[in-house]
Amino acid sequence: MPKPEKHVFVCVQSRPETHPKGSCTARGGAPLVDEFRRLFEEKGLWGRFQVTTTGCLGPCEEGPNVLVYPEGVMYAKVTVENVTEIVEQHLLENSPIESLKISEEVWS
Ligand code: FES
Repeated sequence: MPKPEKHVFVCVQSRPETHPKGSCTARGGAPLVDEFRRLFEEKGLWGRFQVTTTGCLGPCEEGPNVLVYPEGVMYAKVTVENVTEIVEQHLLENSPIESLKISEEVWS
C-alpha cells in the first residue's frame, strides 16, 4: 500500500441520545465518509489519499469533525457539501480551508 499524501479521519463516534456531549454520528458524520469515498472513486484518488473512520476526536460539540493529516487541520460542523471543497482545495490544491477550520479556542 503506498503511503497516502494525506489522510482524512472522519469522526463517527456514537453515544446514547441522552449523553450531554452528543456525538458526531448524531450530527451527521457517517454521510461524510460516504461522500469522501464517492469522490475518491469518481476522481480516481484512491492511492493518493485515504479516508478512515475514527472515534471521538475531542471537541464533540463542534461536530461532525474531520481531521486531515499530515497538516493536522481539523474541520468543524462539516456538511456533505463541504466535502467537495475539502477534497478539491485541501487535498488536491494543498490549501486548507480557513473558514471551515475549528476555532483555535477549543484547544485552550
Ligand atoms: S464525538 Fe466526534 S469529536 Fe467527539
